[in-house]
Amino acid sequence: MCGIVGYVGPKATLDVVLAGLGRLEYRGYDSAGVSVIGENGKLETRKKAGKLANLRNSIAENPLPSSHIGIGHTRWATHGAPTDGNAHPHLGGTDLKLSLIHNGIIENFAELKAELVAAGTVFASETDTEVAAHLIAAEYARVGNLTDAFANVVKRLHGAFTILVIHEDEPDVVLAARCNAPLVIGLGDGENFLGSDVAAFVEHTKRAISVGQNQIVILRADKVELRTFDGEPVEACEFTVDWDASAASKGGWSSFMAKEIADQPQAVADTLMGRLRSDGSIWLDEISGFSTDDLKAIDRIIIVACGTASYAGDVAKYAIEKWAHVPVQVELSHEFRYRSPIVTPNTLVVAISQSGETMDTLMATRYARELGARVLAICNTQGATLARESDAVIYTHAGPEVAVASTKALTAQITAGYLLGLFLASARGATPRTELAKIGRELLKLPAKITKVLDGLEQAKALGTEMANAKSVLFLGRNVGYPIAMEGALKLKELAYIHAEGFAAGELKHGPIALIEAGQPVIVIVPSPRDVDSLHPKVVSNIQEIRARGARVIAIAEQGDTEVSQYAEDVIFVPQTLPMLAPLLTVIPLQGFALALATALGLDVDQPRNLAKSVTVE
Ligand code: M6R
Repeated sequence: MCGIVGYVGPKATLDVVLAGLGRLEYRGYDSAGVSVIGENGKLETRKKAGKLANLRNSIAENPLPSSHIGIGHTRWATHGAPTDGNAHPHLGGTDLKLSLIHNGIIENFAELKAELVAAGTVFASETDTEVAAHLIAAEYARVGNLTDAFANVVKRLHGAFTILVIHEDEPDVVLAARCNAPLVIGLGDGENFLGSDVAAFVEHTKRAISVGQNQIVILRADKVELRTFDGEPVEACEFTVDWDASAASKGGWSSFMAKEIADQPQAVADTLMGRLRSDGSIWLDEISGFSTDDLKAIDRIIIVACGTASYAGDVAKYAIEKWAHVPVQVELSHEFRYRSPIVTPNTLVVAISQSGETMDTLMATRYARELGARVLAICNTQGATLARESDAVIYTHAGPEVAVASTKALTAQITAGYLLGLFLASARGATPRTELAKIGRELLKLPAKITKVLDGLEQAKALGTEMANAKSVLFLGRNVGYPIAMEGALKLKELAYIHAEGFAAGELKHGPIALIEAGQPVIVIVPSPRDVDSLHPKVVSNIQEIRARGARVIAIAEQGDTEVSQYAEDVIFVPQTLPMLAPLLTVIPLQGFALALATALGLDVDQPRNLAKSVTVE
């Protein structure tokens, strides 16, 4: 939530900051703002409610001076409505020479504000953030050194925050503090950058440092210093960003979401690369820190994740239990954190997160570690907090996912879940190696099969367009099709703002069938008729039951399933694969359907209302 950019160096600051905000806008788009210190030595700020385009227009009307230091912010509103006044940056002090931006929530802002109001401070906004701006300005007036004042104040703030500050009287430094919200440094040549993630600066440099918890950054053009909140120097841990700026641009597609749907064969192939050999055998170097004895001792796996990532976890549960014979429970991170889960040293907690910054998932993993569990992350973002705070990481190599609605990150997470299942099964000797190799070889064919589904995506899109006036769409699935049904419903809710629910098909008669009336669209993920568990006839029966009550059925079925065509108005066929691997194919038409339906409604598919890509507050 909220994107943050800072820059100091010889380039035109406004261009650098606005370009960075453009790449971070997916983190929040309720308002945007920038502050620069001009060559005349004066701090100037522009901020505007709404998307970044509004800010650009406002700057075009009222230009900012050229400058070599600046900060910028794109907001997902927490305290205070999304207005011009509540937009960041916020200014501090009676002289308004200090400018501050913030991502997170300052939980003790009410008591700090009361203290400032009692001292006569007048507030210009309803935000928690403005408190920090005034406190630092007041402390600066008292101690006369911006870095000391900044350090003194950040220690008083509780909650989650990344804060960036510039001040007219010290015009060569950007100060930053990080506590429970992301912050990355970009190292340039005679210039340096700050960003909520590397997208903010990757077009300028691939050298990056991930800032740790409770650390302060003192950023100058020629020098970067890291300290703890207590003033102890911190040794920086540099890494190289492994994707370039073009990966985070639309590249001719109508939306990032459309591009990211099309990226999926590559995302899955890259996630498999180097881990699955052509003979189907597997090696996960990332978890080599776990000995075979460790892996054999695991007696329970708890997967923690939110939203789409939790559906990837649901698919992983089916695979791990079947192949590795370990009990798996999937928990929404925010629920896991606030109950009393049974966790022992033999519990492996697997945290799945595209961003690696989802606060609920971070809190769940910290809690799990306190309880003695080891944590394995499945994460898409290098240098993310989750990766830093886990015992091991399986990176999904989906590349940057910019659209708020997750697509390629999901298929890459499902792929990583399969790899983990195969690896555990192999290490524990739970499934014959010949069988695992067969699954592995089939997994290697999935990128090409996804491409085939994409080639036929127009059918799902046409149905989405046709159903643009639907009031509600239901999704049914069974076994690994069940989480895919829930994912289909989530995509539609978040993109098209219409009622959508995903159900386990077997649950239908226990209540949801009452929702069926004439014309109700129902999308059914049909299991393979070749599945030994014989779920196919059961789901076909479910289809007949809802059709008897007037439902309009769209089936997603595998090629060669001749029976289902008799019972559904439309059938979208996907290539045959092993039933366990089918989610990588069946989810694609659901993405295309939601994309087309929302587009037909004239909605912004990359930036749906009320949402942000990365939920960095609890
Ligand atoms: O970054 P994460 O994977 O931790 O994000 C988790 C969810 O917030 C995310 O998957 C969300 O549900 C998506 N916007 C859904 O498309």
